[in-house]
Amino acid sequence: MQFFIDTANVDEIKQAIDWGILDGVTTNPTLAAKTGKPFMEVVKEILDLVDGPVSLETVSLDVDGMVKEGRFLAELGDNVVVKIPMTKDGMKAVRILEEEGIPTNVTLVFSPSQVLIAAKAGASFISPFVGRLDDISTDGMGLIKDIRTILDNYGYETEIIAASIRHPMHVVEAAKAGSDIATIPFNVLEAMFRHPLTDIGIDRFLKDWEKVPNKPF
Ligand code: E4P
Repeated sequence: MQFFIDTANVDEIKQAIDWGILDGVTTNPTLAAKTGKPFMEVVKEILDLVDGPVSLETVSLDVDGMVKEGRFLAELGDNVVVKIPMTKDGMKAVRILEEEGIPTNVTLVFSPSQVLIAAKAGASFISPFVGRLDDISTDGMGLIKDIRTILDNYGYETEIIAASIRHPMHVVEAAKAGSDIATIPFNVLEAMFRHPLTDIGIDRFLKDWEKVPNKPF
C-alpha cells in the first residue's frame, strides 16, 4: 500500500520523508489555508521535496475554468496530479486533462455510482472520503470495499486513494479492503508507529541490558 500524506504543511512532509515512508502528497484548499503562507510558495516547497504524486486542487466550478487551472498546475511539476471535484463539469475536465496526459484525482467521492463515472471519465485516481461518511453514520469503509470490487470487475486502472482518514484503523481496514493508497494526516501517520507494548518492551530490554557483563556498546 502506498502512503500519501494529507497536508500542505512542509515540516510534516519533511518529517514523513525522513521516516522513509512517504509515496506522495495530497492537498486541498482547506489544508493550503491552514499553512497561512502564499499558495505558490507552499506548492514550490512541496514540489522541491517530493518525487511522488502531489495532488493540487482546482477551485473553478465550470469545465473551462477547471481545465485552465489544471493545465496551470500541471506546468508546475511532472509529478503534479490535478484534483477535481466529482461534478458533471469536473468529469468533462478529467477527460480533457487525461487525454492531454495530465493525471487527475477525482475528489469528494462518496458513492459507488460516482466511482463508476470517474473511472469511465478516465481518472488516474479517485478519493473516497471515508471519515466524512463515518461522521454521518454511514459505512465509509464499505465504500472502499465496493469500489475495489467495481474497479476489478471491469479492469479499470483508476487507483483508489482512501481519503478523509481519521485514525490508524482506517488505514488498516483500507489496506485489508485493497485500497491502492491511503492519504493520511500527519497525526495519524505518527500514531501508526506506536504501541504501548513496544515501549514497555524497549524499557525492559534496556533495564536488562544493564545487567549484562562486558558489553561491546
Ligand atoms: C483528500 O484528498 C482530502 O484532502 C482529505 O482526505 C479530506 O479529509 P477531511 O475529511 O479530514 O477534511
